[in-house]
Amino acid sequence: MNKLIELKNVTKAFGEQVVLRGIDLDINENEFVTLLGPSGCGKTTLLRIIGGFIEPSDGEVFLGGKNILNVPAHKRPTNTVFQSYALFPHLDVYENVAFGLRIKKPERAQLKSRKKVELVELTEKIELKKIEQAKLNSSDSQFTDLETQIKELEAKKKEIIKTYRQRFRVLRKNREDNIHQKVMKYLKLVGLVGFEKRNVDKLSGGQQQRVAIARALINEPKVLLLDEPLAALDLKLRQEMQYELKDIQINSGITFIYVTHDQEEALTMSDKIVVMNDGEIQQVGTPEDIYNEPINKFVASFIGDSNLLEGIMKDDFLVSFDGVDYECLDSGFSKNEVVDIVIRPEDLDIVERGKGPINGVIDSVIFKGVHFEIDVKTPHRIYTIHTTDYEHEGKEVSISFFKEDLHVMEKW
Ligand SMILES: Nc1ncnc2c1ncn2[C@@H]1O[C@H](COP(=O)(O)OP(=O)(O)OP(=O)(O)O)[C@@H](O)[C@H]1O
Ligand SMILES: [Mg+2]
Repeated sequence: MNKLIELKNVTKAFGEQVVLRGIDLDINENEFVTLLGPSGCGKTTLLRIIGGFIEPSDGEVFLGGKNILNVPAHKRPTNTVFQSYALFPHLDVYENVAFGLRIKKPERAQLKSRKKVELVELTEKIELKKIEQAKLNSSDSQFTDLETQIKELEAKKKEIIKTYRQRFRVLRKNREDNIHQKVMKYLKLVGLVGFEKRNVDKLSGGQQQRVAIARALINEPKVLLLDEPLAALDLKLRQEMQYELKDIQINSGITFIYVTHDQEEALTMSDKIVVMNDGEIQQVGTPEDIYNEPINKFVASFIGDSNLLEGIMKDDFLVSFDGVDYECLDSGFSKNEVVDIVIRPEDLDIVERGKGPINGVIDSVIFKGVHFEIDVKTPHRIYTIHTTDYEHEGKEVSISFFKEDLHVMEKW
């Protein structure tokens, strides 16, 4: 995997308030990276630093090995999709998507300046000849020579103007063909072929979101920055769009940096999740890493539902909580170190009283569509358990689990 972006010790303060504290992060080509964390943790600020909309107070941002801090936003190979799509309401779908290509006219500008150079040169020549001619008598033979030369040059000037008119026509035609090809390519990618002529205010939220994405992709940026782009959509559409966004990312081969505070979104789409809290990176890893091996209590509680408890590492592979010692897979802690322990609700089992190490009483049962969410009250705490087996409230039960389901973490 090739490294595309490298953040080194990126720090940002607004006045007294430090909102990013020394962020170090690598982002690879073609990667779907999600910045995940609670409101106010600095996700948008970090995204805007990458996009060039704000400067860090300290640190470096490299893109393709080059420091880009002096490169202004519009010259960076990045493009942004915001939460409010900011579409142009007076343009249809086609023109909204084509917009980015229309404002870029490098060939036209080149042609225009070439034409200008040629014409200025000719006009100067003609003027010089006219000045020379004015010094002569009309009966001089040189006078008539000059007369012929001036006429020739003027004819040439007309010819040039005509040629350029033709060139501009061809350029315009090619450009339109090129725009059409690209607009259709990206409308296809976001599933909006057939909507070209539709006014954007007559689209659903999800369709508007897709127009915004096509519009951002058409300039073929190396990196697409997305700041909670699905926040305005309802749950069902949001879930659909998660899969579509992932497909779009894979098919376009562009690096996506996606900001969200929704852990489900992050787990569904990302190759790499960056969990942030209070201006700091807590953990970087694949969705599986983050879910199965949370590095601390914050990550564990932020990703997925969890039972979080405090315990003591009595020895390598031996952890104690609520007064009972349990075997575990963890080692390397100091003797009697206080640790955090996470147990996922789906890893706990409700068994017959006496068949598991923890006794309790069924406190509540909620049907969640696929499983039951059952709270079991024990003398020390309430455990949340996900199971497909129904239990009735008030029943005396025990809880069991495997030693690999105890995730022991250093306290932060
Ligand atoms: N221009 C600004 N001036 C002063 N403070 C700012 C500015 N922009 C952001 N902040 C502060 O910086 C902190 C981080 O803001 P940021 O927008 O990066 O958070 P976020 O993680 O994107 O949160 P959310 O999920 O709510 O969008 C917040 O406390 C915010 O109030
Ligand atoms: Mg934000």
